[in-house]
Amino acid sequence: MSKLSLSKEKIKVVLLEGVHPLAEELFRKDGYNNVHYLKDSPEPEALKELLSDAHILGIRSRTFLTDEILSACDKLMAIGTFCIGTNQINLEVAKKQGIPVFNAPFSNTRSVAELVLAEIIFLMRGIPQKNAAAHRGEWQKTASNSYEIRNKKLGIVGFGHIGSQLGVLAESMGMQVYFYDIENKLPMGNAKDLESLEQLLSEVDVLSLHVPSTPETHNMIGKKQLQKMKPNSYLINAARGDVVVIEDLIDALESGHIQGAALDVFPEEPGSNQEPFTSEVKNFDQVIITPHIGGSTQEAQVNIANEVANKLIKYSNNGSTSSAVNFPQVSLPELVEGRSRIMHIHENKPGVLEKVNHVFSALGMNISALHLQTEGEIGYVILDVNGTDVDDLKNNLEQIDGTVRVRILHGS
Ligand code: NAI
Repeated sequence: MSKLSLSKEKIKVVLLEGVHPLAEELFRKDGYNNVHYLKDSPEPEALKELLSDAHILGIRSRTFLTDEILSACDKLMAIGTFCIGTNQINLEVAKKQGIPVFNAPFSNTRSVAELVLAEIIFLMRGIPQKNAAAHRGEWQKTASNSYEIRNKKLGIVGFGHIGSQLGVLAESMGMQVYFYDIENKLPMGNAKDLESLEQLLSEVDVLSLHVPSTPETHNMIGKKQLQKMKPNSYLINAARGDVVVIEDLIDALESGHIQGAALDVFPEEPGSNQEPFTSEVKNFDQVIITPHIGGSTQEAQVNIANEVANKLIKYSNNGSTSSAVNFPQVSLPELVEGRSRIMHIHENKPGVLEKVNHVFSALGMNISALHLQTEGEIGYVILDVNGTDVDDLKNNLEQIDGTVRVRILHGS
């Protein structure tokens, strides 16, 4: 256990945008009772006011933490995004202010894999067309172009967290799984690792994309790649909208070369549920369209709340920054009773550490454990010392040119 130099009751935790209530529960359970939970995100001026004395902030994707907002957050020590993305935050500014940002990159991956598995079954049975026809009053009772997924070949592009889970699920239903990844990936189950995307395209009955959006994956599946796919095959994109050239997919659907598709992501998506969705794919009954909800399940929300709240609590309680997206990463052991932990965030420039060492030796203090990590312009050094009388130490460290922030914990 450790005790913060600033008591938990005094640490102001602000949770915005109605993050899952479990997050608040976890903070309170750990002794953080000064929690402000808001259903929405205030306008910039009110936000600045709210955050002016906040220590920990949790947001989702609609709170934009600009340079201006962050500059008004003097006391802020950590930010958690209760979602996957972090581009709503000026990460560089946060880093320079000594604020690590945590997110939940993999909490919803199972949800995506499950949706895709269902889509494979629906596409291969021609359900989207039959469903659309029935809604119009047509009865299409036929077995033509309707297949089981057993023994069919699934191709996965990007065998990461989602791709590999999908592979395991699909194999358990009797599919033969093939994948292509730019990295060397351990094949799960009987999945076969192919050497090129081209090989994969011509081999499989269903192709599912699970790559990030990068310059290499931008327009990765266009006319040339679609032509290489087997006639009457299917395409699923639950990755990012810019991975597929939509116009080329439409041509392939019109010609029947691609028999059906499932799209969860689009090059242009409405900014909110109030805006209309416009896309030419709406004209095709054989396309399953979902509004970027691959990862949107209750279970994923709970996982996200758990992951992000625990990362914030851990950072506050013991200084660990493992998996922070903008910060030097350190995984720290529990602080031993009778010791103090000094966490010094500084500009990563020559001479700072020497001055830190000098402060300790001038006060005759012996360092029992030391951890150091740097990332770009920021350095994070953690020093455990015997004893709990460290006020002078803190004051002297704060005087060092290049110091961004000093925090103290006491082992108890
Ligand atoms: P991940 O990072 O675990 O896996 C991505 C894999 O793609 C890695 O193995 C990587 O080596 C591989 N890769 C990268 N560039 C490649 C290339 N040019 N060719 C072949 N392989 C390449 O990511 P994760 O969590 O599996 O997510 C995959 C995608 O799913 C991401 O784009 C993510 O944004 C998207 N996603 C979509 C959601 C939705 O709601 N539809 C929810 C969650 C994630």
